[in-house]
Amino acid sequence: MQISIRKKVAMTLGAYILVASVLWLLIFLNSLTLNEKLRIIEKKEDLLNTILEARRYEKNFFLTFNNAHLGEAVSFISMAEGKLQDIITHHARYAATPDLERSLAHLKDYGVSMGMLASSQSKAPAPNAGPAPRQEAIRALGREITEEIETMVQNERQQINRLIRDARFYHFAALGGILILSILVFVFFLVNVNRPLKALERAIRHIAAGHYANIPAIPAGQEFESLVNSLNHMINRLNRRNQELIQARKMASLGTLTSGVAHELNNPLNNISTSVQIVLEELEDDDIDFKRELLQAAEKEVVRARDIVRALLEFSRQSPFSIKPVAVKSLVSDTLKLIKGELPSNVTVDVKIENDIQAALDFRRMQQVLLNMMLNGIQAMDQGGTLTISAFDLDDHTFCIEVSDTGCGIPDENLNKIFDPFFSTKEGRRKSENGMLPYDGILEPQGTGLGLAICHGIVQEHGGKIIVRSKVGEGTTFTIRLPIGRTHDH
Ligand SMILES: Nc1ncnc2c1ncn2[C@@H]1O[C@H](COP(=O)(O)OP(=O)(O)OP(=O)(O)O)[C@@H](O)[C@H]1O
Ligand SMILES: [Mg+2]
Repeated sequence: MQISIRKKVAMTLGAYILVASVLWLLIFLNSLTLNEKLRIIEKKEDLLNTILEARRYEKNFFLTFNNAHLGEAVSFISMAEGKLQDIITHHARYAATPDLERSLAHLKDYGVSMGMLASSQSKAPAPNAGPAPRQEAIRALGREITEEIETMVQNERQQINRLIRDARFYHFAALGGILILSILVFVFFLVNVNRPLKALERAIRHIAAGHYANIPAIPAGQEFESLVNSLNHMINRLNRRNQELIQARKMASLGTLTSGVAHELNNPLNNISTSVQIVLEELEDDDIDFKRELLQAAEKEVVRARDIVRALLEFSRQSPFSIKPVAVKSLVSDTLKLIKGELPSNVTVDVKIENDIQAALDFRRMQQVLLNMMLNGIQAMDQGGTLTISAFDLDDHTFCIEVSDTGCGIPDENLNKIFDPFFSTKEGRRKSENGMLPYDGILEPQGTGLGLAICHGIVQEHGGKIIVRSKVGEGTTFTIRLPIGRTHDH
């Protein structure tokens, strides 16, 4: 059964209050008893002094047989009786010696014996007669009572000492109890509140990073259970929305793609159609060279249309994705071999990659990415320059491959369009001549505008991203950031 945090906090506070109350009660009772004891001891000491006074007069009487002394002794004894009676009536519950009644009886006997002496008009015995037996009995009784009361006072003192010791113990126990409870409360909050909150924080950070997986249950009370349920509900709705958004985006890009394909294929088809029409019209004409030029132009347009279709196929291809450790330097040099023929003499290639660097990649796909980036770089440097390819670790979890050129750069307004399918600035002279092809054989670089869109898809498949830095007139750097650590081939 899950107990809510509210209940757990209430229970902990309850335990706190209970322990504190019990300790407070013990200390309070202890101080009450101590107070009472101090009053008792005061009264018992007063009683003892009264009895000692009575005994002094008793002694004087037996020395002088002066009746005035006897009277004093009797009156002190009755005073002592009154005081002992007072102790019995008001403080018997707290007195250390429970046998107060017996002491009172002894005191009464003592008083009665002394009173009897007064009534029998005692006289001094003969000088050598020795003490009378009654005199001895009274003295013994007086001694006994004095000792009893002295013992009582002593017992009270011992009890007071014990009470003070107890009070000290209770204080330390209270301190220890509160300390232990505080530790328990701290551990409780750590386990029941802090840890689940941290787990939630981690889960939410995960969601913020774009991983919309459900949060596992947190067994830390009803509140967290319902919080996790609400968050999971939100994640599910977000997931649904995301799917809808992706679908909408797919539809939108399908639209762009279709109009792009239509537009891209339309131009070469138009050109082919125009060229073929002219050839057909001029079929009887003798100017073979002109007809050849037109057919060559038509063929060039066929090649271009085929290139577009091929690039489109590549764009939508779902070939199996296979990640293997790849020697990055040989990946780059193999790719460079492919573009050897297109490399102008005024472009220098600089490869800054250590021989032993390996990274987990899909060789063929990554080659396609590098090929397009290198060709883009070369095409941007029609005045010549340097193409630099490097590979390095950005941090422990990010491996980068960088392709940079010292070419024309990308204007700011184009930077967020270059990854769009069919965005290309490489239209060359094709568009400027009324849709007619240039027949002079000058090859303007013409692009499909699919290159970077394909690169983007491939790098995304690797879980990475492409970052572009560019300055018009200075050059462009494409950084492929992959969420993998590089490995060294030993
Ligand atoms: N290194 C670069 N320097 C300057 N501009 C660039 C560079 N790389 C890309 N671009 C710009 O981005 C556009 C899109 O590039 P992308 O590779 O997608 O298509 P493309 O090169 O035009 O066509 P394709 O790749 O099919 O030959 C290019 O037309 C160009 O304007
Ligand atoms: Mg390109």
